Amino acid sequence: MGMKIAPSLLAANFSNLQADMEMINRSEADWLHLDIMDGVFVPNISFGFPVLKHVARLCRKPLDVHLMIVSPEKFIPEVKALGAYMMNVHYEACPHLHRVVQQIKEAGMKAGVTLNPATPVMLLADIIRDVDMVLLMSVNPGFGGQQFIPHTLDKVRELRALIGRTGSKALIEVDGGVNDDTAPQLVAAGADVLVAGSHVFKASNPEETIRSLKSL
Ligand code: DX5
Ligand code: ZN
Repeated sequence: MGMKIAPSLLAANFSNLQADMEMINRSEADWLHLDIMDGVFVPNISFGFPVLKHVARLCRKPLDVHLMIVSPEKFIPEVKALGAYMMNVHYEACPHLHRVVQQIKEAGMKAGVTLNPATPVMLLADIIRDVDMVLLMSVNPGFGGQQFIPHTLDKVRELRALIGRTGSKALIEVDGGVNDDTAPQLVAAGADVLVAGSHVFKASNPEETIRSLKSL
């Protein structure tokens, strides 16, 4: 219990976002996860701020924004203007990560750092006390509906240990391939927040699917 669930808008019905937002508002979802892509950092483009402005207006849950773009610090004002709670930037996209984390916090948002599947957890050793969350990608970012990479479970355990021995308060979020089979394993490994796209939005009863993930 105590697990947070962040359904990912990427798997929603883009021809009726209002209905999906009403479902999210009624549900036990903790946050709404928003995946912004640029076709450069990742080989796909999702949606941008003009669309998200409307989503933000319809959604009553805190927004967990995941930027899969180069130079994400350029968009701190836009993410802030959405009313975002959490802004996640990729380790691989930020040569001056410490500065970007400070800028996000100065803007009044929580700062999350995201790691691609091939990026080691230990690279966060010198920033872990400064971040509010670490988002571990359990698929290569860019697309929904991919298969969970099992090695992520080792990374969750390693990150849990790093957080424990440094006194960091960072939450551990996992994104990609979360379903009935992988979610309990992630909870056991020490994850705090699970992102779920296809598993929630393609379900016959999305609200019930969120409830059952929450009860893990
Ligand atoms: C992938 C995105 C994910 C995606 C997850 O690049 O970061 O948030 O929506 O989708 P599922 O849950 O379908 O793997
Ligand atoms: Zn994401």
